[in-house]
Amino acid sequence: MTEQDTNPLFGKLDEVVRAVVKTGKLTPKLGSFWQGKKRLTYADMFCGIGGFHEAAKQLDMDCVFACDIDDEARRVYQHNYHIQPAADIARLRIKDIPDFDVLFAGFPCQPFSIIGNRAGFEDVRGTLFFELAKILKAKQPRAFVLENVKQLVSHNHGQTLKRILEVLRKDLGYTVDYKILNALNFGLPQKRERVLIVGFKGDVKGFEWPDKKVPMKPLSQILESNPDPRYFVSERIRRARHEAHTAKVTPSIWHENKAGNISSHPFSCALRAGASHNYLLVNGERRLTTREMLRLQGFPDTFEIISNGSQVRRQAGNAVPVPMVKSIIERVLHAEKSEAKRDSKAA
Ligand SMILES: C[S@@+](CC[C@H](N)C(=O)[O-])C[C@H]1O[C@@H](n2cnc3c(N)ncnc32)[C@H](O)[C@@H]1O
Repeated sequence: MTEQDTNPLFGKLDEVVRAVVKTGKLTPKLGSFWQGKKRLTYADMFCGIGGFHEAAKQLDMDCVFACDIDDEARRVYQHNYHIQPAADIARLRIKDIPDFDVLFAGFPCQPFSIIGNRAGFEDVRGTLFFELAKILKAKQPRAFVLENVKQLVSHNHGQTLKRILEVLRKDLGYTVDYKILNALNFGLPQKRERVLIVGFKGDVKGFEWPDKKVPMKPLSQILESNPDPRYFVSERIRRARHEAHTAKVTPSIWHENKAGNISSHPFSCALRAGASHNYLLVNGERRLTTREMLRLQGFPDTFEIISNGSQVRRQAGNAVPVPMVKSIIERVLHAEKSEAKRDSKAA
């Protein structure tokens, strides 16, 4: 039997698209884990310029609280999302934070060396993760999605992540899983590997990490056609790059590593907040524009740029890739209530 025989929508793509356009946006259906709720609220901790917010907005979630210590990031967030984030997480008063269903946090990759050998909650005191854990303990959201650099997984021979997971599982009572994901597999032409940690209050089933790769948007759709001449490097730098390296594809993004070795790909290496100015060059001749950096992180062109070039570079380098977290949040929304307890009684 062919797909044509079994699938009533086979060959009717146009009709389906027209129907979707007519009915407007498709609101994601929430799984049974969410107890019949129609829309979910969230808090956006360490919000930066709003990578999580952009993703959650596309999934019809309502932001009730955000915080970030960086003045300029807060200004950009307020400008684009009309919510004024609070500042330092360590200075928040729990009573000033409204209740919410889900917590999002791309917590900073500060040195985790502070985390010692004592077990449990006390062990993470003094870290920004501790501030997050305090909020989770007080507010008890039904779920969370955390993001960090992939090095968190191997840091301190795995002990740091182990401690974090222990706090989330044992002290706070969440069912937790984590995975390293790459923005390249979510349609973005950027190799950016991050660890995502997802937690649910109590038992849950039906949450699965994405296994299908979304085809990468070609660089040509990210790059601007007439970039301002100020983005072009000097003739001396351009010549030095082209003497050291020849690209196999065009357009490509040339990456210079710390040892000075140059490679080029039809995608960008990870945008970094504090990297040197010319470590990524389009075709070995110009820096990325601010809009291109935001596109590489999946921000739509409706996102307004109000900061100067070096601030946007830092903001984009810190941000979370929008389609990557959107895909994870979508799966969180579809989570189902676990029948585990009923099954064990029946057995
Ligand atoms: C990895 S970035 C997260 C970026 C965000 N996910 C986004 O998409 O833009 C970490 C953020 O934590 C913020 N941060 C650092 N220390 C903080 C603190 N004590 N309280 C609140 N925010 C803080 C930084 O300013 C930075 O924007």
